[in-house]
Amino acid sequence: MTLEPTSVDEVERGLRATGYLPSDATALVAYLAVKLDKPVLVEGPAGVGKTELAKALARLLGRELVRLQCYEGLDEAKALYEWNYRKQLLRIQAEAAGTGWDAVQDDIFGEEFLLARPLMTAIASERPVVLLIDEIDKTDQEFEAMLLELLSDFQISIPELGKVEARTQPVVLLTSNNTRELTEALKRRCLYLWVDYPDPEHELEIVRLHTPELDETVARKLVEVVHEVRELDLKKPPSIAESIDWARALLLLGADDLDAETFRATMSVIVKHRTDLETVAARVGLRLQGAPDGARAG
Ligand SMILES: Nc1ncnc2c1ncn2[C@@H]1O[C@H](COP(=O)(O)OP(=O)(O)OP(=O)(O)O)[C@@H](O)[C@H]1O
Ligand SMILES: [Mg+2]
Repeated sequence: MTLEPTSVDEVERGLRATGYLPSDATALVAYLAVKLDKPVLVEGPAGVGKTELAKALARLLGRELVRLQCYEGLDEAKALYEWNYRKQLLRIQAEAAGTGWDAVQDDIFGEEFLLARPLMTAIASERPVVLLIDEIDKTDQEFEAMLLELLSDFQISIPELGKVEARTQPVVLLTSNNTRELTEALKRRCLYLWVDYPDPEHELEIVRLHTPELDETVARKLVEVVHEVRELDLKKPPSIAESIDWARALLLLGADDLDAETFRATMSVIVKHRTDLETVAARVGLRLQGAPDGARAG
């Protein structure tokens, strides 16, 4: 069943019901995207819930999620469509000798011989889908230009076949980790959502949602420490994904407190560079060892 939310509040509650706890900004932009038929560009650091938002939105709207994972060198053949060469060859071989080339050609460049890739699948779908174009910043500008055309016209031109028009309009989410600046042209066509690390209360709620069995005091302390670690100048600050992993690890190990020893033993779950480990051990590790809260190292 597909659903059409009628207020920001409904989106907020709906996303929560699917297991995603949105910020106010996230709920608002998601609502606008559905109502205005506008793509959303979601940017933010790694592991803050950009991809998950698209999945949650698909669950909320009761739509299928079509995902295009971007990578360097991604081309139209993998994103839009390609001809099914094998099938075409078989068709040509099966053709009785003597059939003219024209007849065969008309035949093998028909829809039956087309392999639809995610972008085409999304617009050709009978029922509207949620289209996730994940990590768009990994592609090149040429690909972005092709995408722009698709996002404004919602049609694909196939030289041998003609135009394929959209049957339905997808809700489109593009995510980016900001490894390169996207073009102004793309940004102009999209709503923009910056997803940042959540505040402690919000993160606690997310962690508790994923590990309800973890003792609340431990969970609180965990979030507090993660926020403290994020304040340090690290190569790679811990994300929500890592907070959740850490909570799971502590639960599994049966930790009933997050003391200095437990911290030292498990901090590699949230800190993943050798130099970062040293910084964190020196600053946070020492504090947990007994320095009173008011006298944190640094
Ligand atoms: N608001 C949230 N509510 C519930 N779970 C969340 C929320 N934000 C993040 N998570 C959880 O955090 C994890 C990481 O999220 P996700 O993979 O979507 O991050 P991402 O921003 O796409 O990261 P990357 O840039 O590395 O792809 C997931 O397990 C997701 O369920
Ligand atoms: Mg992602």
